[in-house]
Amino acid sequence: MKLGVLGVGDLTEKMVRGLYRSKSGIELLLAPRNRERAEALAKDVGCTLLASNQDVVDAADVVLIGVRPSQVAELAAQVSFTPYQALVSVVTGVPVSELTKLFGTENCSRAMLSAASEINRSTVAVYPPDSPAEILLSSLGNVVSLNTEEHFELATVGACMNGWFYFLFHELEQWFVKKGLTAQQARELAFSSVEDCVAYSRHKQPTELREIGAAIAPPGTYTAQGLEVLNGLGANAAWKTASEAVFELLTEKEPG
Ligand SMILES: NC(=O)c1ccc[n+]([C@@H]2O[C@H](COP(=O)([O-])OP(=O)(O)OC[C@H]3O[C@@H](n4cnc5c(N)ncnc54)[C@H](OP(=O)(O)O)[C@@H]3O)[C@@H](O)[C@H]2O)c1
Repeated sequence: MKLGVLGVGDLTEKMVRGLYRSKSGIELLLAPRNRERAEALAKDVGCTLLASNQDVVDAADVVLIGVRPSQVAELAAQVSFTPYQALVSVVTGVPVSELTKLFGTENCSRAMLSAASEINRSTVAVYPPDSPAEILLSSLGNVVSLNTEEHFELATVGACMNGWFYFLFHELEQWFVKKGLTAQQARELAFSSVEDCVAYSRHKQPTELREIGAAIAPPGTYTAQGLEVLNGLGANAAWKTASEAVFELLTEKEPG
């Protein structure tokens, strides 16, 4: 299997490293733009740097596109696909219908991943199920297969939440540091607390998270008193508002 990469950037570099790390046996072909980065990556993971975008498309069984949304049309104008050639897109917010129109192939699928692709621990949201996206990228983490494109956009909101978590954990970590802990102690407390919560929630499936939380925070406990402060400030509600805002942007319809 030959996977061509158009758009060697932050995300696709991590995906390439993860695919290499998983010993997937996939042969990787890189486009030349951003040459320094592509050359360094090709050297690190033993993949091939080709001379042009079209060379990548011609040589690959499946083409991964990882440019920014504003760069998709320009990229599409530079390449010709065969009518059923597989294209996997990690470009945020560009639907399959648009990809098909732009690239002229009916075989388009989408994936949404995170930086943790690099260590094979990403969420791997894919649409549609059983598509080349799912088959090719499953070694990069936990596959969540979505049946509709609207649900796929919910997974995109999930990817944004993943980004927000870094800022939240940073705040918590820094609070510990300001109170006198070492950076290492602060980080361990913040990380371990989240890891413990996720592991226990998985262990207790299908118990609702709210139920687990309620058992930890009966009225009058310190946890419950802190939760009251958070709720009073709208801290938990704010996450829902942010999620709605991003979902609306992602599913905005063309006027008319
Ligand atoms: N980064 C993440 O963690 C992440 C997570 C989820 C989804 N995504 C999505 O993944 C996509 C890429 O994001 P990114 O952060 O990886 O962006 P990025 O670092 O800017 O990578 C995009 C790469 O594509 C190259 N490129 C642009 N036009 C090209 C063309 N015509 N031919 C060949 N290469 C071209 C860019 O080169 P130049 O720099 O020269 O323009 C750059 O190297 C976006 O749609 C983003 O929404 C990213």
